Amino acid sequence: MRRLASLTLAAATAFLLAGPDVAAEPLRVCLDPDTPPLSTAQGDRHGIYYEVGERLAAALGRPFQVYWWPTDLGKRAIRLTLLADRCDVMLGVPHVKGLMGPRLLVAGPLLELGYVLVLPEEGAIDRIDELVGRRVAVAFNSEAQNALATLDGVVPVTFREPEQALRALAAREADAAFVWEAPVPWIERETGRRFTVIAIDGPRLRWQSAAGVARGNEALRDRLDELLRGMREEIAAIARSYGLRYDGRLSWNWLPASAERRSDLPVEPSPIVRVAAEAPAADDLRAVAERGRELFNSVLGCAHCHGPDAVGPDKPRDLRRMKIRYRTGWVDAYWETVREGRLQTQSGLVMPAWKDTASEEDLRAILAWLTGLQVSR
Ligand code: HEC
Repeated sequence: MRRLASLTLAAATAFLLAGPDVAAEPLRVCLDPDTPPLSTAQGDRHGIYYEVGERLAAALGRPFQVYWWPTDLGKRAIRLTLLADRCDVMLGVPHVKGLMGPRLLVAGPLLELGYVLVLPEEGAIDRIDELVGRRVAVAFNSEAQNALATLDGVVPVTFREPEQALRALAAREADAAFVWEAPVPWIERETGRRFTVIAIDGPRLRWQSAAGVARGNEALRDRLDELLRGMREEIAAIARSYGLRYDGRLSWNWLPASAERRSDLPVEPSPIVRVAAEAPAADDLRAVAERGRELFNSVLGCAHCHGPDAVGPDKPRDLRRMKIRYRTGWVDAYWETVREGRLQTQSGLVMPAWKDTASEEDLRAILAWLTGLQVSR
């Protein structure tokens, strides 16, 4: 209802602003109504992308018209809006060529975004391993959580939303927060703090957004490309005016070598071929299990939450007891849980989903090792 109302209002405003110049077709821009400070249908200022959209339309000599549409459906949102001709441009799509094959063209980059390490105002850090021994708040199922789990000795505190992680930092219930940067200015305003914000450069932790247009609009794409190049300073100033900033930068190559290799693989072999090719000899099995132990204890950092060698800090997290808990279903329970994660747990901690972070091969190695550890009572 709220979204519908603002859509009508924005359309009406654009119509009024268009004035007597009815010749120019409006530039219809798709924006998410609820991702402040990037774009928002609420309040007096409608966000960075909205203001960039207004300037792009002005530069093209066309009236600006917004079409609010939530983007939490990801590619589906792009399909239902931009590719269904509901708008001419969608601001905020990932700056990745080939994201949706030839159907989506991208212009930009528009804005650099990513995960930031947030410290109290007086905080400073020169190296990522200075986090060891500290409580670091992260959001469930975020890439930051995955990265943090590879760092031995950090005490992760997991929340559903990055906003909650930042509030915990403000309340000194955490020493740092490692979160997606967009909500930082908002929580700073809410809590009256000014945090120290450090951009973390590392695999999957930073990306660039773009202006997306549909196939067939090559001319518009080229114009937007040119305009966005010339607007870099202006866009940076708009972002700062919304409170987005970096007080420092650190680089951190956190990704386990195995996961990096995986992303290079062009095509997954079919499961049947893979099984046949990998029927392991006993020696290989031992080597695989040893690799699983190493992944568990250090590389992937499962031991942070499940204890070294899977001797859990409490019964529900003691992974040697899975066979007692699930009997013959324990292998299924393993795959279901490591792939999808688990939100509702007895300790209140969150079990992250690993399907996008750890390779199938690594998870199989951990399973092979855990198999040998199962206790009967
Ligand atoms: C941030 C903490 C955290 C990390 C890191 C973590 N887990 Fe978990 N894991 C949990 C919690 C909490 C549970 C749920 C226990 C419960 O249900 O109360 C869980 C449950 C599981 C279960 C199901 C156990 C059962 O008996 O139901 C498996 C299997 C598991 N984790 C494997 C792993 C593996 C493998 C890794 C590393 C790749 C890993 N976990 C990393 C917190 C974590």
